[in-house]
Amino acid sequence: MEKIQFTIDGRMVTAEKGKTILEIALENGIDVPHLCYHPKVSKTGACRLCIVKINGQMVKTSCTEPAINGIDVVTEDEEIAELRKGILEFLLSEGDHNCLYCDANGDCELQSLCFKYNVEMPQSGYPKNYREKDDSSSLGLKIDGNKCILCGRCVKACGEIQLNRVWDFGGRGSHAHVVSDLWRHIGDSNCVLCGQCAQLCPTGAITLKPVLGKGLSWELKKETSICTYCGVGCKIDFYTNKEGKLVKAIGNDTGPNKGHLCVKGRFGFDFVQSDKRLKKPLIKRNGKFEEASWDEALDLVANKLKDIKSQYGPDSIMAFSSAKCTNEENYILQKFMRAVIGTNNVDHCARL
Ligand code: FES
Repeated sequence: MEKIQFTIDGRMVTAEKGKTILEIALENGIDVPHLCYHPKVSKTGACRLCIVKINGQMVKTSCTEPAINGIDVVTEDEEIAELRKGILEFLLSEGDHNCLYCDANGDCELQSLCFKYNVEMPQSGYPKNYREKDDSSSLGLKIDGNKCILCGRCVKACGEIQLNRVWDFGGRGSHAHVVSDLWRHIGDSNCVLCGQCAQLCPTGAITLKPVLGKGLSWELKKETSICTYCGVGCKIDFYTNKEGKLVKAIGNDTGPNKGHLCVKGRFGFDFVQSDKRLKKPLIKRNGKFEEASWDEALDLVANKLKDIKSQYGPDSIMAFSSAKCTNEENYILQKFMRAVIGTNNVDHCARL
């Protein structure tokens, strides 16, 4: 791979030819503000926040500008900071970004940049182009178009990662906004609820419903685990609130899923805290389930399995394992079937 060398903020960097200035800056730990750029999707060049000066004069968007040998890049000076402030003010003026009433308060890239550049929220709170809020997705997503900055990350997450192409841009000029397929409400669209659009949204325009009203972003505690559902082994950052309830699942970038999740990993964790979970063994007596002790239940199962095995052989028994158990529990079940019962008749609900 051909290499190039150039300076960023006076520091000499070496990089592969073909990469953009922003990519190389981020690789080298140099932070350049950006909103529409996300490493998981193709470049858009829409927000203009990533502007840098090249050779002391040209102001270019670093997310779309390929780096070339010998250039001198300045990521921020007084003039660029002033331009960034203006861009942020413009983005705010187009929508309704009152953080107090925003579901993404504390977890919003736009908010963080406004804080950094000392940009105040507009007082009126009433957007120029009012866009409909969409609460039609019963399970997963809440949409507030007034918080959208048209960065296009959701459109690309849906089209390029999930390959579902539900989100797109509709309308023209100042009336442009993000729409779901055939301009339907998201709940009536072909959305498969992977939630990747919400994960990539840099504002509160698309949020994950399970967390709403259950805890503010800075109160949530993160623990990383493996999804229990299928054999891919997606790595998930699970968030619990102050009461210890699981409220949010975010794909972890270091797993085989590379940050992506399907509907089950994203939203299928409610069973963990369901009050319908069985907490004690039940034995059916006279057609009715009755609570029993673990010893009693295990003895009953062991004796019945022994009887069936001696009468009909080990292959007359099968076990069907569950995605809602841990991987360790599933491992133990297959070991039990093979080593204790003596059959390979074991399967898992993820193969349905
Ligand atoms: Fe470069 Fe948005 S990050 S234009």
